[in-house]
Parts: sequence; structure tokens; C-alpha cells
Amino acid sequence: MTGPVPVVLGVESSCDETGFGIVSEGRLLGQGLASSAAQHADFGGVVPEIAARAHLEAAVPTLRIALADAGVSLSDITHVAATSGPGLATAVHVGLAAAKSIAWSLDVPLFGVHHLAGHAAADTLEHGPLPAQSIVLIVSGGHTSILHVGDLVRDPIVHLGDTLDDAAGEAFDKVARLLGLGYPGGPAISRAALTGDTRAFTFPRAMLRSGDDPYIFSFSGLKTAVARTVETIERRGDAVPVADIAASFEQAVVDVLVTKSLRAVRDKGLGTLVIVGGVAANARLRAVAQERCDAAGVELRVPPMSLCTDNGAMIAAVGDLLVRSGAEPSPLGISADPSAVLHGAQLPLPEGSAA
Ligand code: KG4
Ligand code: ZN
Repeated sequence: MTGPVPVVLGVESSCDETGFGIVSEGRLLGQGLASSAAQHADFGGVVPEIAARAHLEAAVPTLRIALADAGVSLSDITHVAATSGPGLATAVHVGLAAAKSIAWSLDVPLFGVHHLAGHAAADTLEHGPLPAQSIVLIVSGGHTSILHVGDLVRDPIVHLGDTLDDAAGEAFDKVARLLGLGYPGGPAISRAALTGDTRAFTFPRAMLRSGDDPYIFSFSGLKTAVARTVETIERRGDAVPVADIAASFEQAVVDVLVTKSLRAVRDKGLGTLVIVGGVAANARLRAVAQERCDAAGVELRVPPMSLCTDNGAMIAAVGDLLVRSGAEPSPLGISADPSAVLHGAQLPLPEGSAA
């Protein structure tokens, strides 16, 4: 690419985080992040209308924080990238509309970005470009997939396996609710699990038997097994051993995630596993994955904890990669695609690209 150095503003609003990030040539210059998580806590999950209103209120202040953090002014922005899906429709609309307004008023190109590609790109901000080929395990609140990834923004993204039912993060959130640990469930389970025994309960590891699809996940049986265990203990009138249940549940999820994604690395003859998404912030997942990757001679890449959960920097990172690869900008008329499947980093995929 020739011309001035790109300074890309990324906008994220797919769930309950309002994120603005600024990235230039693979480097994170600064970011701003606001969360409405506390407003959803009483409901045990994200309420779309509350999230959308919170994005609307947080957008301008959070953009200001990102600009100040990066030490740039709005007029320095050369490109804008925004999550256009998947996510909560009302929430995506707010960030996308904000991004369009900024791009239009600055007269700079806009790129619609797939949120999950953003999770993968987050890792490049810390560890540099991805290798030519890798296995990416995406574990978020809404998605759990094992992907075969080449060039993140040029090549089609191949799904080796997804979840049949709940996403890994969703399982954390539902089990946290069962244990009375509140929302968001992942960090709450992790905290509770710190003092628990991972072997206190033997919860099912679904889809790990020979004959099962090697890359497909299922977490709803695990959630039901935890619910039955809690019911049985309560019926006996005993105190629920929250820490032990949390630790045993966490270990069951981690076992399945690491076993299947490492199998994909081996089957495809690759050397790198990248774990991204909100659940990648889980300390046990990071530790177990590191241990098993070391034993298998596989390079493990996981973004820093702060870049695992939703943020604007990861969307800016995709925008920056798209700009530097010479991708065509998206039309200003693009709409949100709340249930977009991940086939490519840009959304919608430019005409003629393989899906
Ligand atoms: O990627 P993310 O921020 O949003 C989505 O795109 O869904 O992921 C949010 C999910 C939630 O389900 C949350 O409970 C989970 O990530 N999560 C964790 C941890 N931190 C966040 N799960 C397990 N352990 C954590 N430390
Ligand atoms: Zn996410």
C-alpha cells in the first residue's frame, strides 16, 4: 500500500461493551471501553434494549477517551471499521450508525467487520501477524468454533467444527446463574473455582468418544448435569459446594476445548493454536492449553486478558489488516447482520469472494 500511514478507528457495540480502538500498521495506539454489564446483572443476562441505550450514551465519551489515549485527534483518522455483525441487532445498529457518521463526516472509507474475526485479530496486536496457517479456537458468549485460518483478511475462513447447542461462554453464564454467582458468569465461575477441587465432581465431556465428530462441541448436557447435581444436593438439604462444582465444571469445559483444538492442529499438520474470545480470558483454559501445547510442541497464542473480551481495538485491528491488504471499503449503506456466520473478516463479503 502506498500513501499516508493508515490510522484506523474501530467501533464495537455487538453486546454490552462499547469499544473504540485506534490501530496503525498492526500497532494499538489507544482505546476506550465502556461496559453496561452492571446494568444487566439483575436480569442474569444482557437485555438488548438496555445495551443499545447504554451504547448511545457511552459512544461519544468513549470515543473521546480512545482519541486521548492514542494521542490523536479525530481528523487524524484515515479509515473507520465497525462490527456489523453478529450480535444483538439493536446494539450493533448503534455502533454501526456511529461509525457511518464518523466515516461520512471525515470523508474516509468505512469497513464492515465480522465481530469474530475481530477476536482473532486481537492476538495480532500483541504477538504480530498470524502464521500462514493456524487453528483458531473461538470461545465467546455466543460462539464456539474451531477454525482453519490462513490470511485472516484475504482467505476464506474454514469452520472445522462449531457447537451443536450452547457456546462455551453461554455455559459459563448459565452455570453461574445456577450457582447464584451472577452475570457475567465466566469471571464469577473462575473466581469461585480458585478454591475448588477440579476432581470433586465428574461432569460429562461431551463429544469426546471415538466415533464422535472430532471438532464439534456440545455443552448443554454439561449444563444439565450441573443443574441435576445442584438439585440433588439441595433436595438432601446439604449446602451446595459452589467452589468444587465451579472448578469441576470449568475443568470439564477446558478439557474438551483443548483436546479438540489440539486434535485439529495435529490433523491439519499445523504448528500454531490461537485461542480467542471472552472465554480465552479464563486462567485455567490458558494454563491447561499452555501445558498441553508445550507437551505437543505446538505454539500457543492467546491475546492478553484485556483484549480477550469485546473491545474496539480488535475491530480496528481487522480494519487495519483490510486496509493494508488493499480491500475495497464497504458501502456506507451496509446494514447490520445480527446472525452473520464467519466466512471472512469483512462483512458483507465483497462480491465474488468465496463463502
Ligand atoms: O467475546 P465476549 O466478550 O463476547 C461475545 O462475543 O460473546 O465473550 C463473553 C463471554 C461471556 O459468556 C463471559 O462469561 C465469558 O466470555 N468470559 C469468561 C471469562 N471472562 C469472560 N469465561 C470464562 N472465564 C473467564 N475468565
Ligand atoms: Zn465477542
